[in-house]
Amino acid sequence: MNKVVVGAQWGDEGKAKITDLLAQDADLIIRYQGGCNAGHTVVVDNKTFKFHLIPSGILYGNKDCFIGAGTVILPEYFEEEVNGLIKDGIDVSRLKVSPLASITMPYHTEVDGFVESTATKGKIGTTKKGIGPTYTDKYARIGLKIQDLYSKETLSEKLDVILPIKNKTLEQVYGLKPYSKEQVLELCEKYAKIFEPYVCFEWQDLLEKSKDKTILFEGAQGVMLDVDYGTYPFVTSSNPIGGGAATGSGYGPKIIDEVVGVAKAYVTRVGEGPFVTELNDEIGNKIREIGYEYGVTTGRPRRCGWFDAVTMRYAVLVGGLTTIALTKVDVFDQFDEIKVCTAYKDTRNGKIYNSYPTDVYMHKYLEPVYESHQGWKSNITGIKNYNELPENCKKYLARLEELLGVPISIVSVGPDREQTIIK
Ligand code: GDP
Ligand code: IMO
Ligand code: MG
Repeated sequence: MNKVVVGAQWGDEGKAKITDLLAQDADLIIRYQGGCNAGHTVVVDNKTFKFHLIPSGILYGNKDCFIGAGTVILPEYFEEEVNGLIKDGIDVSRLKVSPLASITMPYHTEVDGFVESTATKGKIGTTKKGIGPTYTDKYARIGLKIQDLYSKETLSEKLDVILPIKNKTLEQVYGLKPYSKEQVLELCEKYAKIFEPYVCFEWQDLLEKSKDKTILFEGAQGVMLDVDYGTYPFVTSSNPIGGGAATGSGYGPKIIDEVVGVAKAYVTRVGEGPFVTELNDEIGNKIREIGYEYGVTTGRPRRCGWFDAVTMRYAVLVGGLTTIALTKVDVFDQFDEIKVCTAYKDTRNGKIYNSYPTDVYMHKYLEPVYESHQGWKSNITGIKNYNELPENCKKYLARLEELLGVPISIVSVGPDREQTIIK
C-alpha cells in the first residue's frame, strides 16, 4: 500500500517518527516538497537523528530514498546533512536527488533574511532558509535546477537571463550586493560536485521500476502551512497537502492509497500567524516543557495550545487525510484536564463556526469553544497495545475520531520508534 505522510497541523507533528516507522514496509521513500526549513527528528535506540532534506527512511540503509522535483535544496545544507549521516555510519548510497529539484542560491537566503529582519508589519517568522525566494524564482521561471549544474551551455544561457533581473532586484529593491556571472558559475561548479554522487538522471527508470513496489511519500511542514490552503500569508511556499505528493514526486495521484495525517494531541506553531487555541499561560508553558516544544531547525520555542478539531476537520478535507497518526499523547500523562476545541465563536456577534473560516485576518475575533476531558494520570509511555491504554485516554481518542470523521490508526506515546501503538 502506497502512503503519504502529511503534517495535519502547523508542522512538527512528529512526521519523521511516523515516516521512519512506515518506511519499514516501503521500498522507495520520496520527499516531495519543502527544503531545509523542515526539521525532522527520529529516535532509534536512544539515538536521535535530525533530518532537514533527506528522507528519514535512509536509516534503514536498504531503501531507495528520493528527493523529488517539488523540493528546494540549499546545497551546503544538503552536504552537511549527508556528511553527518556518513559520520554516524549510515549508508547513503541509495540516496537520490531529482535533477528537477530547485536550488536555493545565496541570494535567496539573503533576501529571506533581509525581509524577515527588516519587516515592521506582516512578518512571517520564516526559518530564513531562503524557501520563499527560491519558490518565487521557480514560479517566476528564473530559478536554477540541479540538472543545470551539469550543462555549461544551459547554465550560461540561463544566467544571462536570470542575473540581470536578479541583480536589479537585489540592488534596487533590497539594497543587497549583486552577483557576477563568474561568481555564480564558480558557486555552481562547487554545487555540481556536492550533488554529483546523488543526482539521479535515471529517475524516470527509478519511478517506473518502483511502480509495483511500496512507495512512501514524506511530507514536510503541515496542511495549515500550505501555500494554497493554510493560514495565508503566514505559511510556507509549497504544498504539504496530500496532493503535493503527486506534483512533487513525479507520480500521478492514482498511485496513492492512503494519506496518513500526523497530528499532535495538542497544537504547536512556530513563527507568526493566527492560532485560535493558543495558550499564553501556565498550561501552554507546561505543554512546552513536557513536550519539549522547541524548533529543530531554529531552536525557537514553539507556541502551544489545545487540540483544534476545527482546523483538523479542515485538514482532513483539504489534506486528503484518510487516517490519523496521533503523537505526543504521553505529554498529557499528568494532566487533570484536557481540552478540545470543537468550534469557534465570533466575539463580535456570537456566531459559531463549525467549519474553518479562511479569512485569517478575522481570527483575532474568534475564541475557541472547548469541551473538557478528564486526564488519565498515569504513564503510558511503555504501552504497546491499544487495549491497555487507560480508559480516559481511549475515551479521548474515540472522541477525536468522532470529531474528525477518520480513524486514528497510530498512537504515539514517546519519541522512540518502539513507543508506538498500531490500532
Ligand atoms: P516533524 O517535523 O513533524 O518530523 O516533527 P519534529 O521532529 O520537528 O518534532 C517532533 C518532536 O516530538 C521530536 O522531538 C520527536 O522526537 C518528538 N516526538 C514524536 N512523537 C512523540 C511522542 O509520541 N511523544 C513524545 N514525547 N515525543 C514525540
Ligand atoms: P517540519 O517539516 C514548523 C514555518 C516557519 C514560518 C513559516 C514559513 O519540521 O514540520 P519558511 O521558512 O518555510 O518560509 O517559513 O513556516 N515552518 C515550519 N514550522 N515545522 C516546519 O517544518 C516548518 N517549516 C516552515 O516557522 O512560520
Ligand atoms: Mg519539525
